[in-house]
Amino acid sequence: MTQAFSKVTAIRGMNDALPGASARWEQLEALVREWLRAYGYRNMRAPILEHTRLFTRGIGEVTDIVEKEMYTFTDLLNGESLTMRPEFTAGMVRAAIEHNLLYDRPQRVYAMGPVFRHERPQRGRYRQFHQIDVEALGLAGPDIDAELIVMVARLWKLLGISDVKLEINSLGQGEERAAHRAALIEHLEQHKDILDEDGLRRMYTNPLRVLDTKNPAMQAMADAAPKLFDFLGETSRAHFEGVCARLKDAGVPYRLNPRMVRGLDYYNLTVFEWVTDKLGAQATVCGGGRYDGLIELLGGKGAPAVGFAIGMERLLDLWGQYQPEVAAPECEVYIVHQGDEAQRRAALLAESLRDVGLAVIVHAGAASFKSQFKRADASAAAIAVILGGDELAAGVASVKMLRAVDQTPDTAQLSVPLDDLVAFLKDKVN
Ligand code: HAM
Repeated sequence: MTQAFSKVTAIRGMNDALPGASARWEQLEALVREWLRAYGYRNMRAPILEHTRLFTRGIGEVTDIVEKEMYTFTDLLNGESLTMRPEFTAGMVRAAIEHNLLYDRPQRVYAMGPVFRHERPQRGRYRQFHQIDVEALGLAGPDIDAELIVMVARLWKLLGISDVKLEINSLGQGEERAAHRAALIEHLEQHKDILDEDGLRRMYTNPLRVLDTKNPAMQAMADAAPKLFDFLGETSRAHFEGVCARLKDAGVPYRLNPRMVRGLDYYNLTVFEWVTDKLGAQATVCGGGRYDGLIELLGGKGAPAVGFAIGMERLLDLWGQYQPEVAAPECEVYIVHQGDEAQRRAALLAESLRDVGLAVIVHAGAASFKSQFKRADASAAAIAVILGGDELAAGVASVKMLRAVDQTPDTAQLSVPLDDLVAFLKDKVN
């Protein structure tokens, strides 16, 4: 009896990027690094696992992320509660504090990588997804808020993406939010009868989030609620106007969305989101804002900060709608061979070609020329090099152009002396 092993599959909401798709990821990452470099941002890396209290304190106890989306578990070896990062900001700030990064100057930093949220998977919403996270630490003015937003506008342009719209709002400062909150609670109390379970539960703990409801029965109540924007004092308004003026300078259109609250509690003053109708229900490609209180909240010496994150899966989806993928070849030169001696020569030849920067695959194992050529063709290599007994005896290799590498397609098979081969191929490929 043959016992078939059952397949182990990936976890729901966690995706594989196979070679073709992954090439696209790498292309995007390379572009993104160049874009960030142009603004003086430097890469940093922090662990995926952090103490749970970093996120409960940093993101806020009464947020969807902390209440129901974190991958939290107890380390069985020492009983510590650990969480897989649901976002970058808290960890970046933790690292900046721990290493005294803001000691003598502000820091512009970024990170790219996986983050984890236990949400219901659908298009654009996954349990492991990836963010490009950008943080300007230690900078207070509206100039930097605007620069970050203009910077994102440049990325859309670089990628040839249009149809992404900017929405901004100001969440003001603590006291302003407190005054608004009191007025809001009063409003919610007057409409208690139509609040759903989430609404009732959050009425006193996070009333702002009650307005973020998708429940149609609560929309009219939410629309009529007192607006935080009306509670902003002069300084907060001036900051916001400073951001808007600079966006106008740069020709970046925006819409004021007074209902935008963001899903994390650390924000104050400017918040913004870039949204599109090209991604189905998951419309937000990029979200961020100012978080002047977080560094102190996480135990550092108080310092202002602002940043944003872009969802990479959503960005790739969007990019693909404007710039179709072009399959990348597996190599530039594919070497086919016949006989033991030729196979060994092929391996050495490949090394010499790699020395001059070419990407080379040597057909592995022995097979007929026909089946080797089939593989060569499937690899999308531009050139096939043939080493057989006849070639070796004559001190040459046969070279066949599989694809036009220069303007003139050349299908004939050429005979090139082995001594000239490296220079010849290098010239052909470049
Ligand atoms: P966020 O709005 O929670 O902000 O996430 C940023 C972006 O990540 C979203 O706009 C979206 O594109 C993407 N995203 C979120 N959840 C998912 C998911 N389940 N699947 C796929 N993509 C998703 C933050 O995380 C803040 N830390 C941003 C920030 C940085 N604020 C200041 N600095």
